[in-house]
Amino acid sequence: MNNKISAKNINLFYGEKQALFDINLDFKERSVTALIGPSGCGKSSFLRCINRMNDTISNCKINGLITLDNKNIYDDDLDLVLLRASVGMVFQKPNPFLKTIYENVAYGPRIHGLFSNKKELDIIVEQSLTKAGLWEEVKDRLHEQANTLSGGQQQRLCIARTIAIEPEVILMDEPCSALDPIATAKIEELIDELKENFTIIIVTHSMQQAARVSNMTAFFNMGKIVEYDATDKIFTNPSKQQTQDYITGRFG
Ligand SMILES: Nc1ncnc2c1ncn2[C@@H]1O[C@H](COP(=O)(O)OP(=O)(O)OP(=O)(O)O)[C@@H](O)[C@H]1O
Ligand SMILES: [Mg+2]
Repeated sequence: MNNKISAKNINLFYGEKQALFDINLDFKERSVTALIGPSGCGKSSFLRCINRMNDTISNCKINGLITLDNKNIYDDDLDLVLLRASVGMVFQKPNPFLKTIYENVAYGPRIHGLFSNKKELDIIVEQSLTKAGLWEEVKDRLHEQANTLSGGQQQRLCIARTIAIEPEVILMDEPCSALDPIATAKIEELIDELKENFTIIIVTHSMQQAARVSNMTAFFNMGKIVEYDATDKIFTNPSKQQTQDYITGRFG
């Protein structure tokens, strides 16, 4: 399988402080990769490199190379709007817009001009909500405000909003940390379905979640990759003692 994304020698600095050291990671197309590691080890910083969200942090400097389909996303001629359309992001706290359920999903397709009439937009909205496992729950209340949904429903709405613009990659930064176990299970099932069509990179503090949803796992510590391997290997027979100590709860 092809590498959808490839990160080479990524070093990241906030002012003088270096937060990532020589990160090299390849991500296969249509797979789920979990990024795990103790708080402050650089998982979110790395995730933000992949859609250039760090550009918005003024003292953040990055060197190295990240390619999406073999094209360097840090090239000067890169279109950031297109990049963010190809690489969608779901955050820790559900953050729907202060709009209706329908409009949350329709917003991206409008901006990117993905339809030519209302009927087509309705189809995009329905399909996105269906893929996010939310359609049945919201089909009769599409024009209610998004903040009337439960937290788990709001997070699935955010996933629907991301899917609506047909990204290729979905970045998720602890997408279940604000959710209860049932809502979490729904998102995990959803991730399993989404990997048929999307390349997914998920940051999680839950070892169980990483083990359940991912194909590959990267263990970060203090800004470095300690170990990157198939999830089964990481959780049953890691090569590094540090990984073993972390997954068995001896630190972090
Ligand atoms: N905007 C910023 N300015 C300065 N330092 C930052 C900034 N964002 C993160 N850092 C620092 O960079 C390091 C890595 O942070 P990051 O948020 O990437 O860690 P993380 O692994 O996602 O942690 P957590 O699991 O707690 O979310 C930390 O030392 C953090 O304090
Ligand atoms: Mg983080």
